[in-house]
Amino acid sequence: MINTAVFISGRGSNFLALLKNIEKGVLKNCHIAVVFSNNPNAKGLEYAEKAGIKTIVIPSKNRSDRIEYDREIINALAEYNIDLICLAGYMRIITEELVEAYKNRIINIHPALLPAFPGLHAQKQALDYGVKVTGCTVHFVDGGMDTGPVILQKTVPVYDNDTEDTLSARILEQEHIAYSEALSLYAAGRLKVSGRKVEVLDK
Ligand code: GAR
Repeated sequence: MINTAVFISGRGSNFLALLKNIEKGVLKNCHIAVVFSNNPNAKGLEYAEKAGIKTIVIPSKNRSDRIEYDREIINALAEYNIDLICLAGYMRIITEELVEAYKNRIINIHPALLPAFPGLHAQKQALDYGVKVTGCTVHFVDGGMDTGPVILQKTVPVYDNDTEDTLSARILEQEHIAYSEALSLYAAGRLKVSGRKVEVLDK
C-alpha cells in the first residue's frame, strides 16, 4: 500500500477521480493520506473534508520565497510518511528543495502531450497552434517546468469547432482515466525510471 499526498490549487476534479477510483477498488494499493493546497478556497478541499481526508493549507499568496515555502510543506508532510506526491492541478512551481526531498516520488498531470505546450493554458496553446491531436500526460516531476520523464499519455482529437472549454472538457475526461492508471502502475511497483525513459514492467 502506498501513502500519497495529493496537491491541489482549485477545482480538484483529478483528486476526486482518484478518490472515487480508490473507493470503487479500481485503483488498488493506494491510500490518500492528506490533501495539500496552497489556496484556502480550493474547491477540492471540500471533497477531502467530506471524505474524512486530512487537509493541509499553506496560503501561498504574498509568499515570494519559494524555497522557504517548500520547506514548510516538507515539514508539514513529515508526519504522514508519504511515499508519493501527486500534483493534481497544483498551480505553483515547486523548487529543487521539494523535488530532492521526494526524488522520483512526485508525479504530475498536464493537459497536453508533453513536450508540447508546457506551462499555463496548455489547451489554449494547442488550439492556437492548430494541432489536430492533443491530450494529457502523466509524468515524474524533475527540476524543470513540465519536463520530467513521461509515464503515460492519452490522445484527444481537436475539432474545428472546439473552444478552449470544449477541448478542456474532452481532455479532462482522459486525465481522470490516465491519472489512476499511472498511479496503479506506480503502486504496483511497475514503473522503472532510467534517465528520461519510464519502463512499464510486466506484472
Ligand atoms: C487539470 O486540467 C490539470 O491537468 C491542469 O489543471 C487542471 C486542474 O483541474 N494542470 C496543469 O495545467 C498543470 N500545468 P482539477 O483541479 O479539476 O484537477
